[in-house]
Amino acid sequence: MVYFNLYFLKRRARKWWPYLAILLLLIIGYYEGVFHQFSSSSVLDSVDDQSRSTMKEVFALQRQVRLLRSVLKSYSIPEREYSDVLLPTIYVITPTYARPVQKAELTRLKTVFLHVPALHWIVVEDASQNSQLVSNFLKSSGLTYTHLHQPTPDEWKLKDSDPNWRKPRGVLQRNAGIKWLRRKFMQESNPRGVVYFADDDNTYSIELFQEMRHTQTVSVWPVGLVGDVMVERPQVSVHPKGEGHQVTGWLTGWKPNRPFATDMAGFAVNLALLLKKSKAEFSLSSQRGFLESDFLGNLVKLNNLEPKAELCTMVYVWHTRTEKANMKHEERLRRAGKPTDEGIEV
Ligand code: UGA
Ligand code: MN
Repeated sequence: MVYFNLYFLKRRARKWWPYLAILLLLIIGYYEGVFHQFSSSSVLDSVDDQSRSTMKEVFALQRQVRLLRSVLKSYSIPEREYSDVLLPTIYVITPTYARPVQKAELTRLKTVFLHVPALHWIVVEDASQNSQLVSNFLKSSGLTYTHLHQPTPDEWKLKDSDPNWRKPRGVLQRNAGIKWLRRKFMQESNPRGVVYFADDDNTYSIELFQEMRHTQTVSVWPVGLVGDVMVERPQVSVHPKGEGHQVTGWLTGWKPNRPFATDMAGFAVNLALLLKKSKAEFSLSSQRGFLESDFLGNLVKLNNLEPKAELCTMVYVWHTRTEKANMKHEERLRRAGKPTDEGIEV
């Protein structure tokens, strides 16, 4: 019986096999098509040119997002820093002046600032007009920036032969930056943001900007390699009423009893607070070493300072100073009419 049935089927199959084969091919063809629908190339094949290029862009952007996420992760930067459109902007004011190392200094800063979301760089040249070098540099930087100039009058300019403490530096340039901010936010009663004074020769870490981002009044932190010691830092104690921590003084090698014994790199100011205090600016007549202290005295009381960087136990900025470039041979070549930087910007 079984034998008979199999024999019968075989016979029928022999008759029907061409039809079965065609059916099989049709089924395979159908599923192949369905699978291809899911692959991007086939999706792109089935749409018009306009949608195709848009979709290609979307795929490319998705790839970039994945890459950027992994970069953020490797720097331990919280992702929300980048996705929060309401992030307070950090206005970084940098005085700068022309000398052989200028572009190198600005490049070091740019490289860090590019990693910081919502940063607006206000670069103020100590010059009677904006230079080509800085203009071109900023234009191609990829940063949001404002380019200003404010010359230091001759009598306040440091001479090459002067020791660097003889006259304050960057004073009028920082004030020009503050003035620009006052004008920009003239109509706004409570603008969100933070102001930081970043000299062009220091070394800044990415973490520093995360620390200062949400400053309510004035925030402070340690500064490495400054004031002839390894580190200058605020002294932090538990608040007597148990309300967190507060700054009670300063650990520095030189004059720790200054009301605010911090370097320029060691604090950031809430934008609204700075703008509210209409007289807050830097003064050329501040006593030597009191530039920062006098400025902050117009803004806060010591116990209102916000200690950052793990209660001032971490160093995220260093007051490095760049060696003056030796131009001995350059000067000789210049005198001979053969400067090495002819037709090339350094
Ligand atoms: C220290 C502080 O870190 C500065 O913030 C402070 O302004 C300075 O002392 C001071 O007492 O005036 P230091 O490294 O000695 O800094 O100063 P520089 O880095 O030489 O100058 C501070 C800023 O002013 C820099 O961004 C620099 O580019 C700029 N600068 C300097 C000018 O704009 N014009 C100049 O003629 C010299
Ligand atoms: Mn410096």
